[in-house]
Order: sequence, then C-alpha cells, then structure tokens
Amino acid sequence: MHEPNSVDAPQLEQAARRLLEGGLVAFPTETVFGLGADAENPAAVARIYAAKQRPAGHPLIVHVAPGADLSWWADSVPPAARALADAFWPGPLTLILPRAARIPPAVSGGHATIGVRCPSHPVAQALLTRFAALKPGGQGGVAAPSANKFGQVSPTHAEHVRSEFPELGPSELLILDGEPATVGIESTIVDVSDPSGHVAILRPGHIGPEQIAAVLGVMPGWGGKASPQVSGSLKAHYAPRTPLYLVAAEQLESVLDDFMDGHDGDVPRRVAALVFQAPSQPHEGVDYHPAERDAHDYARHLYATLRRLDNQGYDALVIESPPDAPEWHAVRDRLRRAAAAFEG
Ligand code: TXA
Ligand code: MG
Repeated sequence: MHEPNSVDAPQLEQAARRLLEGGLVAFPTETVFGLGADAENPAAVARIYAAKQRPAGHPLIVHVAPGADLSWWADSVPPAARALADAFWPGPLTLILPRAARIPPAVSGGHATIGVRCPSHPVAQALLTRFAALKPGGQGGVAAPSANKFGQVSPTHAEHVRSEFPELGPSELLILDGEPATVGIESTIVDVSDPSGHVAILRPGHIGPEQIAAVLGVMPGWGGKASPQVSGSLKAHYAPRTPLYLVAAEQLESVLDDFMDGHDGDVPRRVAALVFQAPSQPHEGVDYHPAERDAHDYARHLYATLRRLDNQGYDALVIESPPDAPEWHAVRDRLRRAAAAFEG
C-alpha cells in the first residue's frame, strides 16, 4: 500500500527534514508542481530564486497545511479572507494578505503583503503537515513558485521538474513524485489586503470570479494598482521554445496557408496545430492535434501538451483560440502570455 499518492513515509520524512535544513524540495500540487523551501528561512528562499533564475522582488506564495493559523503569516485577516479560505481551501486559491511583521520579507520579495495558499494535493498536504510539526510552535509554511525556470512552461509531472533543473543533483533538489496535477494551471490569486475592503483578482484560475462573488456577495475587481509586480502577470510567460501562435478559428486556414507557402527554399516546414476540430481538407505538412473541448480538461493537460509539442521539433505551434467565454478565461490568459513571447 502506498502512502499519499506514491510517496512513502520515509520519503516524506526526508523531504520535511530537507526543508527544515534549508534545502529545496519540489512537490506536486493540484495546480502545478512547486519548488519549495522554508518560507521563514531567507537563505533557503534565496535558493529558490537562484534555481529558477527568477528576478528578486517577485513575491512567492507560502503553502500551508490544512488548519494552519493564518494570523501566523498575516498581520490581519479580513473577513473576506476568512470567507474565501473557508469556501475554497484546501484548493487552487491564493490569498494576498498584509504580511505579519515577524515574517522575514524575503519570501514576499520585500513587499508588505504575503501570498498564502493551502493546496489540496495529498502529497503536498502530507509534506506541509509534517514540516509544520517539525517547526518550533508547530507553525511553518513552504514558499513555492512553480518548479520551472523563470518564464518557462509550468510543470505538471515530476519528470517535467527533473528536465527543468538538470544542473541540480538529488542532494540539491529532492523531487517528490505524485499524481499529476488535476487542475493543471496555477491558482487563482485574490488580493484581500486592501484596507478599504476592495477585493481584486490578480491572476485568473480554476476558481472564477462568479464563484468568488457567490461567497463574498460582491463581484471582485481585476488587477489592483497598488499590488507588486506579479511574474505570472508579465506579458510574456509560460512560453515553450517553439514559436507559438494563438489564432482565431476563422483565421486558422489563412494563417496555415501563409506558413506553408512561406517556407525557406526546399525545406518543408513542420507545423503542429492544436484545434477543436480537424479541417475537412487538411494542410500538407500540418500535424493536427485534437484540443480538449471542456475548459477544465483543457487546463489540466495544457502544460503537458505544450511540453510534448515543444519537444517534437516543429517549426511552429499554431493554437486555435478557445472561445471567449468565462470558463475559458484562465486558459486564454495562459495561452496569450505564451504567445506574447513570440510577438514582434
Ligand atoms: O498554483 C500555484 O499558485 C503554484 C503552486 C506551486 O502552488 N504556484 C505558483 O507560483 O504559481 P509562482 O511563483 O509561479 O506564481 C506565484 C504568483 C507570482 O506571480 C507572484 O508574483 C504572486 O503569485 N504573488 C505572490 N505573493 C504575492 C504578493 N504578496 N502580492 C502579489 N502577488 C504575489
Ligand atoms: Mg510560475
């Protein structure tokens, strides 16, 4: 019998102790794999920035076990934060709160706020619970951005993490395996730190504005002018190496025509097209890959699909735009950012 999803008790113990000693542990969550370190150990947090090659000043999310005391992390916990945590934790929701003065600012990239999330993945929960138990006072959290190099596609399988950090051996990065992500895209980030009580979504995700409004009784806003730069909200992000183009359904034909006609000399181009329906008259040289028709299924497989297509040596990835409908909002956001990396 396996312990939580294929990680056994000795492995979990080793991982929790590694964190306690200031080391790096990658672990599965229901959204994407995280690259974790003790949130209250600035030297350990610095190791995350170094491994990811992430610019300093980009705040990290602190992951906590179910039942963790939010006031350990936050200087005040507004009623909206309590209500959202009660409704959606454990789950793919990050709350931005005013950071407690005793929490070292490194984890927040020096900002006055702190992002906190309680994940639902059983391996993440087991790790967080054990780690907190080892800390003085029984409170502890794991700072973890997505376990990929800065700007790259987020990992949803342990092998993705391994391939992102070939330079880190097992003594430098311990990778916990586990069921692949079920949500597949990063958590919804909700800023509840504004003293006026204004609530804003900083990053769209599986939990949408309507669900948040149903809990709060008021529609959240978008963005938040005072909030620090959110790396996932930089225009170009989540990008594969192969040039990626996001194309409206009605323009697919003509874009593929242009691609195939404009090839260099005699070298035929190879293009992958991720489409909801293969055309009755396929283009020569285009490999059509079927896209999931359900938005949550699409999200769950999005990053693995991008990685798979990226590794097949195509000259271009052409992706049919999903519909402009609320349930597709988060997926469209990730695809737009991936495509932005290749815009002039
Ligand atoms: O689903 C997720 O959230 C995944 C898994 C591992 O939990 N984590 C994740 O981390 O996506 P990362 O670092 O790739 O993205 C975290 C985002 C960043 O864009 C960061 O800037 C933002 O959260 N963030 C963290 N703390 C913040 C704060 N205090 N204010 C504003 N944004 C914050
Ligand atoms: Mg990321």
